[in-house]
Amino acid sequence: MCGIVGVLGRHEVAPLILESLKRLEYRGYDSAGIATVNAGVLDRRRAVGKLVNLSDLLVHQPLPGKAGIGHTRWATHGEPNVKNAHPHRSGPVAVVHNGIIENFRALREALALEGIGHETDTDTETIALLTRHHLDRGMTPAEAVAATLARLDGAFALAFLFDGEEDLMIGARKGSPLAVGWGEGEMFLGSDAIALAPMTDRITYLEEGDWVVITRAGAEFHDLAGNRVNRPVARIRLDQTRVDKAGHKHFMAKEIAEQPSVLGAVTAFHLLPDGTDLALPAEVDFTTADRITLVACGTGHYATQVAKYWFEQLAGIPVEIDIASEFRYRQPVLSDRGVAIFVSQSGETADTLAALRHVSGKVARTIGVVNVPTSSIARETDVALPILAGPEISVASTKGFTAQLLVLLLLALKAGQDRGRLPPAMMAQHLATLKTLPGLVARALDREADIEALAQKLAETRDALFLGRGVMFPLALEAALKLKEISYIHAEGYASGELKHGPIALIDKVMPVIVLAPRDALYDKTVSNMQEVMARQGRVILVSDRAGLDEAGPVWAQLQMPSVPDLLAPIVYAIPAQLLAYHAALARGTDVDQPRNLAKSVTVE
Ligand code: G6P
Repeated sequence: MCGIVGVLGRHEVAPLILESLKRLEYRGYDSAGIATVNAGVLDRRRAVGKLVNLSDLLVHQPLPGKAGIGHTRWATHGEPNVKNAHPHRSGPVAVVHNGIIENFRALREALALEGIGHETDTDTETIALLTRHHLDRGMTPAEAVAATLARLDGAFALAFLFDGEEDLMIGARKGSPLAVGWGEGEMFLGSDAIALAPMTDRITYLEEGDWVVITRAGAEFHDLAGNRVNRPVARIRLDQTRVDKAGHKHFMAKEIAEQPSVLGAVTAFHLLPDGTDLALPAEVDFTTADRITLVACGTGHYATQVAKYWFEQLAGIPVEIDIASEFRYRQPVLSDRGVAIFVSQSGETADTLAALRHVSGKVARTIGVVNVPTSSIARETDVALPILAGPEISVASTKGFTAQLLVLLLLALKAGQDRGRLPPAMMAQHLATLKTLPGLVARALDREADIEALAQKLAETRDALFLGRGVMFPLALEAALKLKEISYIHAEGYASGELKHGPIALIDKVMPVIVLAPRDALYDKTVSNMQEVMARQGRVILVSDRAGLDEAGPVWAQLQMPSVPDLLAPIVYAIPAQLLAYHAALARGTDVDQPRNLAKSVTVE
């Protein structure tokens, strides 16, 4: 959801900013732009679409200067065109913004009364107009920004640059992440550590409400009330910021392939070294919990749907799940003995963060399940459990999903243990089962050639239906989401038993129906539903293990998975879901890593 970067450098900054924006492009790619100050003069270049268009523009119209800010946009207000592209400028000030200014209409009207008109359709331009207005009244840049910030409602990470000021950059954060990077005689600003990694590994994260005045000599931090404050400098691990495709054609392919090692790392981290018990922080305690609330968005939400089954089966505890954007608007009933778990790959999703803030102080404990350990959700939950997936760059989440599932499974096991539902022998058995997971996922990945062949069949279709029962139902939803988001094939996930209550009307000789049915306790029921599809000449693709495929008899197409313990099936069956979508997208020639209209990190509500 928009990436921002700023550099006060020793050399020309446009190439550095472009490199950083490339690393931030996962946040949005509707347009991109850079502004610099050169010989005291503020100037900017902007281009619609992916960053490559801005790069091309800069070849023909270079932008010199050793101070600059840059932006990659996911459009919220105003269509993606050059006029609406950041940096926005009004007279001597340029600004880049991640977030939404909720009161921009009221501010615009107030400015119009003073004869200050707007030129773009964006909320962001208002920030530039207001700051200019304050500068015109004789304020210094820092005073002008402080006065502007005081009038903004909504969420923002901002970077400002000023005409005539080659050694000044101002940043501000409320609701959207922003980090200051420390160099030798150079200073940086960026949406995250990944953006700044090529330039520095010394980072200071702004706290909520902070703003910062940056020169090449250092940074002066101010809190919401305007007081000077100190913020710590942290060293980031560069292995956590590597963003190359490692020989794969797409980030998504690389991230799918990484799953066995990611899942191995998760168990190694969250279990004792000898693997005989969980090694979760002491705050992860469900002994007195009377309910669990799980909140997330997108793929994370489907991970929580699977987790509901696990918590209920393994720990016998009532579980409530919700999409973050709905959660706080329905006045959820919370318990002061409840545990609320927030699942977010980025740790910055605005809806999830808002849901977390909504429950703060109203439940016994909040737990974050996050990939980015320095993210807002990691910092604002009572305890944050890392999913250790490493940077996930492809917009469609893959390794993030399976790593989230595994951490949620560990939490469900801990809840079972705390509540006396899992005697030591049973726990030991489950933990031993977990050790087989990386190998099983690797075997599922070995089926890629078969999956690719199936994907060719899928690629020709306009619609597809995924069916599953029990823990396979959320997998059907996730499989449909993956296919939709990267191949643009319309797909739905359904609980297989629900088929007869409506969607069966869609069955014809054309639409593929993908049935996820490991040979488990629910297999017979799922296969009965599959027969209902076949009786209506539906085209069934059955995904099951050898035993399940043999028992089901002939179908339109089939895909053999390894035989898996029930506990691990949702994680292993994520692999065919991901690979089907990936190869269908390849066959259709869509942009796998950066599908249209999407962004990876959605920091607006
Ligand atoms: C966006 C991404 C999805 C992701 C969702 C939640 O919509 O495109 O892939 O599942 O946000 O993101 P989070 O970072 O909170 O897991």
